[in-house]
Amino acid sequence: MKTVKDYIRSIVDFPHEGIVFRDVTTLFADARGFRMAVDQLLHPWAGMDIDKVAGLEARGFILGGAVAHQLGTGFVPIRKKGKLPGAVISESYVLEYGEAVLEVHDDALLRGERVLIVDDLLATGGTAEAGIRLCRRLGAEVIGCGFVIELPALGGRERIEALGLPVQALCA
Ligand code: PRP
Ligand code: HPA
Repeated sequence: MKTVKDYIRSIVDFPHEGIVFRDVTTLFADARGFRMAVDQLLHPWAGMDIDKVAGLEARGFILGGAVAHQLGTGFVPIRKKGKLPGAVISESYVLEYGEAVLEVHDDALLRGERVLIVDDLLATGGTAEAGIRLCRRLGAEVIGCGFVIELPALGGRERIEALGLPVQALCA
């Protein structure tokens, strides 16, 4: 029986020399693999009181949309700078080289709404932390973060847990 990890491909030297990139397009392309990943991602949170799933651009949209559909919640995109058409709030975060900015519509979450954050991969946790900060600034309560893959050596789990949140990852 194949596991989620078996559907994920590694590509060497992408996007830079020395990086082994975890490519989830092969997981998404396989009907069984994709369903398995979505089912496992929502499992810990099923039955909990959740108002919205927030997905982090770009692969978090694919996973988060499917998880939201299954949980019967709304979906909120957290996007790279300049992509959302309405009024936004922004958070910058540190990347391997330089800085990037994530944004969310300032009316995407209501005060007190309970939000699950979803993305494909947890590395340093900088992206997820920026997403958490955006949700919290809108007054929402982030209940946890779900990822298909974590890269444990980069410390993302500890960083998110230090914010008081549970982290779920399907494989490493
Ligand atoms: C990747 C991945 C996560 C983030 C994880 O996205 O999909 O969102 O990096 O890294 P971190 O934990 O160190 O922040 P990327 O920034 O490559 O953007 P993309 O999804 O638009 O390709
Ligand atoms: N895959 C996708 N996103 C990433 C990776 C990876 O291997 N490493 C850091 N961000």
